[in-house]
Amino acid sequence: MSLDWARLKERVAGCTDCPLHAKRNKTVFGVGDENADWLFVGEGPGAEEDAQGEPFVGQAGKLLDNMLAAIHLKRGDNVYIANCVKCRPPGNRNPESAELLACEPYLHRQIDLIRPKLIVALGKVAAANLLATDASVASMRGRIHQYRGTALIVTYHPAYLLRNLPDKAKAWADLCFAVRTMEGLRGGGSTPENASQVERRR
Ligand code: URA
Ligand code: SF4
Repeated sequence: MSLDWARLKERVAGCTDCPLHAKRNKTVFGVGDENADWLFVGEGPGAEEDAQGEPFVGQAGKLLDNMLAAIHLKRGDNVYIANCVKCRPPGNRNPESAELLACEPYLHRQIDLIRPKLIVALGKVAAANLLATDASVASMRGRIHQYRGTALIVTYHPAYLLRNLPDKAKAWADLCFAVRTMEGLRGGGSTPENASQVERRR
């Protein structure tokens, strides 16, 4: 796929390539800085996102915004937010593999256009899909993976964290790891093994 942003957005808006198109209200293309260093990827739109056409605008989205703020990031400012599937799976079921596969070229094109330095996969469904594995989030977090040549790290989905508050501490550790990883990728003389600014401040 070699569409520019405008054509890519048009293509997604009218897409009927998988069964998810039938029950969607709005496609949820993705939002943010089209030259971002940071790309956060969730699994797919929920009810609020389907109504508004923007990713992570419901309860989980509020937590995601707070997670971003904790590492001094803001939606739209050096950050892009997208999902593996652009249309809501009915009843918030997990997207099926055929649906993930059908929608993947759009995410690929978004990544090719954004050229982020680091991808953060939010939750099991996104991480397992992007890394083509069935591994748990617990086993995938804390390491730098690669996705089509871009560094990728894994953390818990904010909706999961809302139901499992004790794991918020692990998500915080993952965010610190993400910041250190980004510092390393920027070649700022820091590596993921060094202490980061964010961590020292705590
Ligand atoms: N959960 C996701 O994975 N993506 C959204 O956009 C909202 C909730
Ligand atoms: Fe097209 Fe993706 Fe929506 Fe399926 S989920 S209809 S592939 S935009």
